[in-house]
Amino acid sequence: MVLVVGLNGSPRHPGNTEILLNEALKGTGKDAKIVRFDLAFMDVAPCQACEDCFKDGECVLTDEMGKLYDLLEKADVIIVASPIYFSGMSAQTKCVVDRCQALWVRRHLLKLNRRPGVGGIILAAAQPQAKFDNALSELRAFLIGIGVRPTGSITVGGLERRGAVSERPEALSQAFSLGQELVRSFNSPGP
Ligand SMILES: Cc1cc2nc3c(=O)[nH]c(=O)nc-3n(C[C@H](O)[C@H](O)[C@H](O)COP(=O)(O)O)c2cc1C
Repeated sequence: MVLVVGLNGSPRHPGNTEILLNEALKGTGKDAKIVRFDLAFMDVAPCQACEDCFKDGECVLTDEMGKLYDLLEKADVIIVASPIYFSGMSAQTKCVVDRCQALWVRRHLLKLNRRPGVGGIILAAAQPQAKFDNALSELRAFLIGIGVRPTGSITVGGLERRGAVSERPEALSQAFSLGQELVRSFNSPGP
């Protein structure tokens, strides 16, 4: 059984991000235990940089981020999906990313290893030639920072309308393949 955590950073329902994420989650197969979080509908405050987590890797804020920490630590596969907002990830996604400073502390200051895990990134944007580099590089840094190996990503432009991606079979199939590939890569990490 592979534990898969999906993070949906779009407030639109059914958003393009959500639809792509769901395809990727389907691609992880029937043996996966899937937990999906819709970040836009959770009560998660931004990191206050209080540095309290520096001593033990625990965040002092008490909100719904508490539901995520444990699963993000245990997940075999993490898929983070965000719409592109002003050439970056959405604020809802970034909020959760920054609160994972507590997990970064565990890896990099407290030297606590994480079990092996792989991560994937999904980005949706309106412009056909949208700029994905910023969000890709930040989300890769996020995955590496919390101790997960970034293994694959898909970026889909040309998605203006809510749910437009439902009419893009090639994008849906790319998302499904990403899910498959992440599980394959988790099961055979290579050298
Ligand atoms: C605040 C905001 C900023 C956006 N900025 C960009 C942008 O910089 N580039 C782009 O291609 N699309 C941009 N978009 C469009 C969304 O990325 C696009 O509609 C995407 O499909 C939304 O995904 P969703 O349906 O999952 O919410 C923006 C949308 C919003 C609401």
